[in-house]
Amino acid sequence: MKIQIINGPNLNLLGVREKSIYGNTNFESYLEELRARYANITINYYQSNVEGEIINKLHEIGFEYDGIVINAGAYTHTSIAIADAIAAINTPVIEVHISNVYKREEFRHHSMLAASCKGVIAGFGMDSYRLAIENLIG
Ligand code: DQA
Repeated sequence: MKIQIINGPNLNLLGVREKSIYGNTNFESYLEELRARYANITINYYQSNVEGEIINKLHEIGFEYDGIVINAGAYTHTSIAIADAIAAINTPVIEVHISNVYKREEFRHHSMLAASCKGVIAGFGMDSYRLAIENLIG
């Protein structure tokens, strides 16, 4: 089984950025834990700050992989183009957020992507990614 995690803009700064919201762990350390826990599945990771690169990655793997976990960062709230890419591919996509976006500013309450996704998980810190994987492998 092959799962792709895609992180969008500013998520390369996890562990450094706004720690009170996003925590102290960088994504690479968390990824090691995830890979150890799910040793029988392939978990690939891609991060980009560029909208078009995220779309290219969705096209590249979205007809081949068994599941995609995407945290599109702020593009979640703005990107019709990423929503269209998710709708265009066959692989199920789960939208995740580290923070509970509904407790935050109003502009974070709406997702352009959610309607094209299998489901949405928000507010469980880094564990949001694991919960999405649990669903994809279930
Ligand atoms: C985020 C929430 C978004 O609103 C924000 O722009 C991010 C991170 C989260 O994981 O909580 O960059 O997707």
